[in-house]
Amino acid sequence: MISLEQLSKVYQSKGKTVIGVDDVSLDINKGEIFGVVGYSGAGKSTLLRCMNILERPTEGKVMVDGIDLMTLNSRDLRKARQSIGMIFQGFHLAMAKTVLENVAFALKASGVNRQERKRRAQELLELVGLSDKADQYPAQLSGGQKQRVSIARALANDPKVLLCDEATSALDPNTTQSILKLLKRINRELGLTIVLITHEMEVVKEICDRCAVMEDGKIVEQGSTYEIFADPENELTKRFIQTVIDFRIPEKVLSERKGTIVHMTFKGDSANESVVSDLLQGYSIRANILHGKIDYIQDQALGTFVMELTGERKVVQQAIQDLREKLGEVEVLQDDRSTDQSLARAE
Ligand SMILES: Nc1ncnc2c1ncn2[C@@H]1O[C@H](COP(=O)(O)OP(=O)(O)OP(=O)(O)O)[C@@H](O)[C@H]1O
Ligand SMILES: [Mg+2]
Repeated sequence: MISLEQLSKVYQSKGKTVIGVDDVSLDINKGEIFGVVGYSGAGKSTLLRCMNILERPTEGKVMVDGIDLMTLNSRDLRKARQSIGMIFQGFHLAMAKTVLENVAFALKASGVNRQERKRRAQELLELVGLSDKADQYPAQLSGGQKQRVSIARALANDPKVLLCDEATSALDPNTTQSILKLLKRINRELGLTIVLITHEMEVVKEICDRCAVMEDGKIVEQGSTYEIFADPENELTKRFIQTVIDFRIPEKVLSERKGTIVHMTFKGDSANESVVSDLLQGYSIRANILHGKIDYIQDQALGTFVMELTGERKVVQQAIQDLREKLGEVEVLQDDRSTDQSLARAE
């Protein structure tokens, strides 16, 4: 649905060159929810704004629904933009207009008559659960309700794509959840392709089918949300995931442990299998769980465990090797320190 090819955006401000987006190529499929995460200044908004040429790329190609947006004249571009809705962190509503007028106004440019605009706006307010607020003004609404109005407005011209720039960043966790649910519902019901940028990995975990991580204008990693969570490669990606799945064990706890401490990730079915108890049965070693959690990402289980394995060193090594064969990566967070202790005692 959206295809970016070697896209770059360079700003010249006060004689200085600032790179907003640096050689990004990206394909977003029809009907998916695609997330872009990154810290402030990573280039997320610039990338998103290039997708509807609110920001004209310095280099590269932007294809949306088979149309090369960079080649359009301003009239055709305005028309093409009608199929690309957009919502923002700050809602951008007209404060002097009622809720209904805000939504109806978006239909004006497409030449729909007054009565039809009103009917369609009412329908959209119903879709986002705000029919009872039609005659109120934005100032009378909560943040979540304002964002619903801006979603209704963005959907007015039946877009194929919805671009969301930090749409939930100004909202509390509960309201964020309800807006994410709404986005997911319109994604499924209307077959809408959604691109969502955020600095919250929790938001990605909640609704994105696939995602990309951005740093310094570049995409440093991308893939299905599940695979990104299960097998992050990039250090930055790992840091983002840690905000959702934090398996760090306090130093004090680690220092009191003498066995081998391992971190492992169980994917899909193996998260539910009795891998841990098999391990206990098969070897004469003990396993203490220091951290254990199963997350559900896109309805698939992902288990994260940190365990202390104690027993004969050789047997523990063998168990870790077998686990690696079964599970993939098993990371040793702290080596066995029982021998160090006996050495210390011998001194
Ligand atoms: N109009 C502009 N003129 C000059 N530089 C700009 C302009 N817009 C963005 N930039 C620069 O481009 C880079 C990327 O900015 P961008 O707003 O895309 O980041 P972001 O990832 O959206 O950050 P945030 O999470 O804070 O919104 C930054 O270094 C920023 O200073
Ligand atoms: Mg931004």
